[in-house]
Amino acid sequence: MVEILLATHNAGKIREIRRLAADAPLVWHGLDDFPAVPEAVEDGATFSANARKKALHFAAATGLLALADDSGLEVDCLAGAPGVHSARYAGYAHDYAANNRRLVAAVSGVAPAQRTARFRCVMALARPGEVVLETDGQIEGLIVTESRGTGGFGYDPHFLVPQFNRTLAELPPDDKNAISHRGNALRAMLIQIEQWLRGQGDWPA
Ligand code: IMP
Repeated sequence: MVEILLATHNAGKIREIRRLAADAPLVWHGLDDFPAVPEAVEDGATFSANARKKALHFAAATGLLALADDSGLEVDCLAGAPGVHSARYAGYAHDYAANNRRLVAAVSGVAPAQRTARFRCVMALARPGEVVLETDGQIEGLIVTESRGTGGFGYDPHFLVPQFNRTLAELPPDDKNAISHRGNALRAMLIQIEQWLRGQGDWPA
């Protein structure tokens, strides 16, 4: 069995990947299995740079294949902000309420139909010293100034998915995963992992 380290402490992300990859001959570890390994520094200018840096860091530290992601929100009328700064848009990491207040203030003078945006998630798979695969998942939507829904996290209550006329925070988790940037990046990554391992003769017949 091929072992892959998921560069996250988030038990929800690990559970989700194990579920999506349930039939694959892969063994997934989380960072909690490697408590002595230090965190990676996320100071890249792009989602791709951060995902690659994280994957290389954890592959080098453990000797395993490492899968890392970086994600965030790009709002067109804000020239792509908050982008790689999504987690700390209002100044403090993961203060979702403050981030959303800043987002609402920033788009409030823009006509609703012009508030086009997307979530992006870039995933990178590295072995020690080399990034071997990268995928980029997206979901398109509109920013709404009124908060709607209690599910999800982060900017979800302000991200309207036009085809459902619901925000991501109004969708059940499985429905969000089926269309989300992270789900799309992960599904593409699992396909590429299988192709790559088959090409190396590491995928059991
Ligand atoms: P990270 O990739 O876990 O570092 O996430 C970066 C930031 O982007 C998060 O803190 C959120 O603010 C935002 N973000 C990423 N994915 C989502 C999502 O699915 N819903 C809402 N916010 C998200």
